[in-house]
Amino acid sequence: MRHLLDTTDLTLGEIDEMIAIACDIISNGKKYSKACEGKKLATLFFEPSTRTRLSFEAAMLELGGSVLGFSEGGSSSASKGESVSDTIRIVSNYADIIAMRHPLEGAAYVASRKTGVPIINAGDGGHAHPTQTLTDLLTIYREKGGFNGLTLGLCGDLKFGRTVHSLIKAMCRYENVKFVLISPKGLAVPDYIITDVLEQSGCEYKEVTSMEEVMNELDILYMTRIQRERFYSQEEYLRYKDAFILDTEKLENAKADLTIMHPLPRVNEIATDVDDDPRAKYFEQALNGKYIRMALILTLLKWYEEKAVSTDYPVTINGFQCTNPHCISNHEPLEQVSKLGEDKSTLRCVYCETRTK
Ligand code: CP
Repeated sequence: MRHLLDTTDLTLGEIDEMIAIACDIISNGKKYSKACEGKKLATLFFEPSTRTRLSFEAAMLELGGSVLGFSEGGSSSASKGESVSDTIRIVSNYADIIAMRHPLEGAAYVASRKTGVPIINAGDGGHAHPTQTLTDLLTIYREKGGFNGLTLGLCGDLKFGRTVHSLIKAMCRYENVKFVLISPKGLAVPDYIITDVLEQSGCEYKEVTSMEEVMNELDILYMTRIQRERFYSQEEYLRYKDAFILDTEKLENAKADLTIMHPLPRVNEIATDVDDDPRAKYFEQALNGKYIRMALILTLLKWYEEKAVSTDYPVTINGFQCTNPHCISNHEPLEQVSKLGEDKSTLRCVYCETRTK
């Protein structure tokens, strides 16, 4: 069965096809109004959401299907101690497809091993957020006409910002894409993104601590929120909280055709006066999320009917212990499983991808 756990579950050709479906939905929405008649989408959100959950629900309703689910773990039996594994086994009996958000990294992977229906990762802790990436790719496609040759600046909390991890994995597969990683040193992207994604792909990248020094180089500026809920202490969060604030002054040296993106929600990292700049595309980006999620639901349900299968993760079971306290394998009874990293000298947890020497 095919799921969407991270962007790399899709080939570039499949992403192109999904973007084409989304563009057709934008032009000919009525054509799709009964496409999912009789089908049910479960939205299991153990963590807060506005855009992802509601755009998934709007997407299914506009396709003629129905939705069921919950918007916080506290209103499900997770609050009584039920595991993700058991929850998914149960909900698979009630829905044709499941979109799940969970605070633990690897939760969607666990769900995919227990389900009878396609699983969509709607965000697993600080790890991945592939449907945001599909949203971002549709936005970049509509603004820039393609992906090759772009210089992408990613700014803010690159350590815990799951949207950034999935977007890097997606964009590094295109030609001549350059990454400018703008963050405080303590919020740099995780090691595995550098070694197993950026260096493995051969993409040009640099890490800097100021957005002003690189502003004139960028085709896309992707701002992110400092992810308060992922910090280990309030003191640590306060140290970084106002690290980057984009305002009109900082845009003075930016390209005339810069595209400013943000997965939202924003706290204060983009001043509201930037909203009137024609280069600001984050509200259009959120709308694109509904169209691409419609395309994703259609595609996964079609693959399910065709009995399409994905290549399974090659796994090693070796008494490995994941060192990430946010990994689901440290929270519910699961086999600790790793695979060899691209450098052949580290192990990567299959749930959250944390590397261990
Ligand atoms: N971009 C995003 O994931 O937003 P929500 O948390 O509101 O779903």
